[in-house]
Amino acid sequence: MNHATEGRRLYLCGMAEDLIIAEGGKEEQYRQLLPQLKALMDGEPDLVANLANISAALHQQFRWSWVGFYLVRDAELVLGPFQGPVACTRIRKGRGVCGSAWERAETILVPDVERFPGHIACSSLSRSEIVVPVIRGGEVVAVLDVDSEHLDHFDDIDRKWLEAIVAELPF
Ligand code: SME
Repeated sequence: MNHATEGRRLYLCGMAEDLIIAEGGKEEQYRQLLPQLKALMDGEPDLVANLANISAALHQQFRWSWVGFYLVRDAELVLGPFQGPVACTRIRKGRGVCGSAWERAETILVPDVERFPGHIACSSLSRSEIVVPVIRGGEVVAVLDVDSEHLDHFDDIDRKWLEAIVAELPF
């Protein structure tokens, strides 16, 4: 990139638009991604803008079939920024994996969505899932939902790092 192009990019956006895709095992990929996610949010107070970029960065890195946020709005979860096919817009407390993670206020790992009673099938391609609640002041304010087309795709490494990522979100 020459100097003029770099200057123009900075003028247009004021941030590094490019994500450096991390290599290596899953743990290493998360380790390299986390500081980049923090940098993307640095100095940006708008929640929607940050959730949009976090969804995009996670999708660019891991190519999951769906990744995004549902936000607690009164008695429901309402669809927020995401990457992937269109999804259901509202989920009640206790319904599906997302509504259950909200109700229990804990991360839920689902190795096989067909074996999770009440799973909401937004996409017939989804086979496994992890949902991480965002908790602030003891209350769930949102959930991060990640779906995979592969069975048993998520494990405790994903749980640990996705919980670390949601802890950084500026809710
Ligand atoms: N599978 C989710 C619904 C949301 S979509 O997967 C995006 C659930 O059962 O909560």
